[in-house]
Amino acid sequence: MQHKSIQGIDVPEIGLGTYKLYGKECMKTVTDAISMGYRHIDTAQMYKNEKEIGDAIYGSGIDREEFFITTKIWHTNLDHDDVLQTVEDSLRELRSPYVDLLLIHWPNSQYPLEQTLEAMMVLRDQGKAESIGISNFPLSMTKSVIEDLRIPILCNQVEYHPYLAQFDLLDYSYDNEILIGAYSPLAQGKVFQDEVLARIGSEYGKTAGQVALRWLIEQENVIAIPKATSSEHLRENLDIFDFQLSDEHFESIDTLARNLRLVSPSFAPEWE
Ligand SMILES: NC(=O)c1ccc[n+]([C@@H]2O[C@H](COP(=O)([O-])OP(=O)(O)OC[C@H]3O[C@@H](n4cnc5c(N)ncnc54)[C@H](OP(=O)(O)O)[C@@H]3O)[C@@H](O)[C@H]2O)c1
Repeated sequence: MQHKSIQGIDVPEIGLGTYKLYGKECMKTVTDAISMGYRHIDTAQMYKNEKEIGDAIYGSGIDREEFFITTKIWHTNLDHDDVLQTVEDSLRELRSPYVDLLLIHWPNSQYPLEQTLEAMMVLRDQGKAESIGISNFPLSMTKSVIEDLRIPILCNQVEYHPYLAQFDLLDYSYDNEILIGAYSPLAQGKVFQDEVLARIGSEYGKTAGQVALRWLIEQENVIAIPKATSSEHLRENLDIFDFQLSDEHFESIDTLARNLRLVSPSFAPEWE
């Protein structure tokens, strides 16, 4: 597994997405993934699977320090005291004294951002969150965290795949040493129907999905968290470290962007 080193922290370039993995299936998938070499797992309070993930990690017998675990605070838990309380609950479920990365899942203007971040800083100071960050924050809100509130965040996790360009956010994140965590990196499976990606993949003996993941992690400060359930998919998504896209292929994937946003619930911020 390769890592991105950002602010002195090593983050595995491929993490396992776990949205909609529940119960026994979640436990089996995470156990399988760990046995294949996954050491980065993405969960959230809202996914209702922190317990299964905690059990799978604990059950693996591998040292906790070997893993990079992210969880996210749900957008109705952003009151200062709720942050403190619900993260304790998450840690108990995850069977761990800390998470590597604690994110605000979605911005919510009902709660003053400063107070939410203040509570997250308390957790950081207590060693319960190694790093903190945000998710689904458009550029102007990201700037406000960095420039107005001056909170040191590690990551902004956003939807990012070949059909949704994030160029402004990428430039800003690169300049400010912030990691972009690319979620729905396979465009929820849509990349597998893409003829351009498939054709490029055939030149390397790789699938369209592997090309999409490779395109993401070849970008300076980007990591990706594909979700998969079957062993075959899990293995395929990890088997991307033995090839490199040519400049020409990389640029032709850049041209696939068409502002296709797949995740935009009613409470989403105004996208920029
Ligand atoms: N911060 C946020 O608001 C937010 C929002 C959305 C997602 N996320 C995170 O990002 C993760 C990934 O995003 P996502 O689940 O929306 O979509 P995704 O990872 O782009 O795509 C997942 C889909 O692709 C399929 N798949 C995976 N690997 C495959 C392969 N090698 N060949 C063929 N099909 C394959 C999966 O099928 P199988 O499961 O059947 O293998 C699943 O249907 C989530 O699980 C979650 O952890 C975060």
